[in-house]
Amino acid sequence: MKIAILASEGAPYCKSGGLGDVMEALPSALSRIAGNQVVLILPYYKKIKDNLAYETELVIPYEVHLGWRRQYAGLVRLKTPRDGVQVYFIDSDYYFGGRDCAIYGHGDDAERFAFFSKACLDGLAHMGYIPDVIQCNDWQTAMVPTYLQAQYRWAFPNTRCMYTIHNIEYQGWAHGGFFDDVLGLPWEYRGTMDMNGSVNMMKGAIETCDLVTTVSESYSRELMYPYYAHGLDGVIAGAAGKLTGITNGIDVGTFNPETDPNLPAHYNAETFREGKALCKAALQQEVGLPQKPEVPLLVMVTRLAGHKGLDLLCYNARKLLAEESCQLLILGTGEPQFEHFFRELSAEYPDRVAAKITFNLGLAARIYAGGDIYLMPSKSEPCGLSQMNAMRYGTVPVVHATGGLRDTVPPADDKGLGGLGFTFQSYNADDFLYALKRCLALYREDPEGFRQLQYRDMTQDFSWDKPAQKYMALFHKMLCN
Ligand code: GLC
Repeated sequence: MKIAILASEGAPYCKSGGLGDVMEALPSALSRIAGNQVVLILPYYKKIKDNLAYETELVIPYEVHLGWRRQYAGLVRLKTPRDGVQVYFIDSDYYFGGRDCAIYGHGDDAERFAFFSKACLDGLAHMGYIPDVIQCNDWQTAMVPTYLQAQYRWAFPNTRCMYTIHNIEYQGWAHGGFFDDVLGLPWEYRGTMDMNGSVNMMKGAIETCDLVTTVSESYSRELMYPYYAHGLDGVIAGAAGKLTGITNGIDVGTFNPETDPNLPAHYNAETFREGKALCKAALQQEVGLPQKPEVPLLVMVTRLAGHKGLDLLCYNARKLLAEESCQLLILGTGEPQFEHFFRELSAEYPDRVAAKITFNLGLAARIYAGGDIYLMPSKSEPCGLSQMNAMRYGTVPVVHATGGLRDTVPPADDKGLGGLGFTFQSYNADDFLYALKRCLALYREDPEGFRQLQYRDMTQDFSWDKPAQKYMALFHKMLCN
């Protein structure tokens, strides 16, 4: 099958979050399936363009029409395919290559990614790569299914399009005038793109694509409710017949405690007792906490954003430290009030709390390995990847049972049996603390039970093999319709 995957980020080239990880692993997993030919297209950001390690060549220069605009685009190919995936970049100094700063957050983001979506379709058409299936992701590539249906059937008469929602919070809103000024779609698409007088690109994608997927099964059900849908519940309800959830995997080749070059000691499910003890001691030293093997080390690697459930942790932190013997380690950057809170807390409890307000992938790996308990009380979580990383490294998760956390962390009982971690159902601080205390009690009172739970976490299959097969089944389903 010929597959084209379009996204605004993909590791190792450019990544701001989980989408970037998925766009590294999913294309590779699909390309390992016999008979597939996979193409990945990303924007040619300055950071990629300037990186001499990536040898590229210009395949085709062309012009993209965006409303009244005529913008140069170059389809650039990475000379060596990566893991069987042919990687292309869309070159445009105006929108990507000429800008120094972050991937997102520019005043003209809506226009930048409308351009990207159209440039991908033009690029595929110009090089004569007619995919059976296009898979596109989040609001940044949300214009693809609508353009495909409205303006590109001449080039792709039979191509089917899957639209995957990684996070419904960011929808690609623009003012109403954007429809004529930038999108340049036929007038009959005005209703498709309109939401309360503004343009909403994600809404358009949900309506015009062949299938909608989300990154976990539970999240696909949650999206029916206003609490989770950020205003799109009605649109989702209208698309219910074509909506499915496929829970992400993780890259088990990269996230492997046996080979991870970031770790001071290596281990697997059979040797984790010694291996994790060494990693824990080294981690405590690295972050300036006393090296106490017996004290449980609670860890969190996260963007410091409200929906990650930090308010629950902030509310409980002092109570937790007063009532339990434990250490707490947080890594991440984000909203100033949380950065401030954790800095203050670590100043107040220098021997028990360490806050690393930074972005550091190596330290993140050492935290997955050296921690005992991983906290992820997210208010909502489309899938979440770090709870799976933590489990793969033998760190027991305590999570809010929502979205992908519900799907990947079945609840264990007080003996640590029957599940993979500790969960709480309703989003409140007391329930979170209670779940955490149950986990700490197991750690303290039944070390062997805790070890058994770690073993089970480490031996789960979090690879992309099964999810990739599910994507294939949906691709086939689209092609039959
Ligand atoms: C987004 C979601 C996260 C998910 C990731 C990859 O970042 O917030 O839950 O794991 O996309 O699909």
